[in-house]
Amino acid sequence: MITDELRSKLIQEAAKVRLLAYAPYSNYKVGAALYTQKENIFTGVNVENAAYPTTICAERSAIFTAVSSGEQKFIAIAVVTEDGGSPCGSCRQVLAEFGGDIIVIVADTNGKVHIEDSVANLLPGYFGPANLLE
Ligand code: THU
Repeated sequence: MITDELRSKLIQEAAKVRLLAYAPYSNYKVGAALYTQKENIFTGVNVENAAYPTTICAERSAIFTAVSSGEQKFIAIAVVTEDGGSPCGSCRQVLAEFGGDIIVIVADTNGKVHIEDSVANLLPGYFGPANLLE
């Protein structure tokens, strides 16, 4: 379970960083704030590209930054979009790599929470490390 204080903090951080998103093509800005077991917060935004498929989502940007900083154990991630849109399949899959019990909080820019659920529930039956490492 996530405390009210942590939920608010993560949503606030995701909303703040969202303003830095580079989304000239979709104009759909996304901010993410990832909370780690070491109690750090790593943020990310979507970064689009004229070659559309090379765009990176905010969630994966935050995860890759955290891993690049030496952290691989995640508790929760907040994602903020204008309308509370939910994380794409690719981001769910990348989150699942680090644990089905990670909590995903999706909020809109008014602070309304649209989703709060585990990665395992958001990506049932996911293919993950257990398929290859055990
Ligand atoms: N986007 C994200 O950043 N995260 C998601 O989970 C869904 C989509 C971005 C990618 C693209 O820059 C824009 O939103 C529209 O698809």
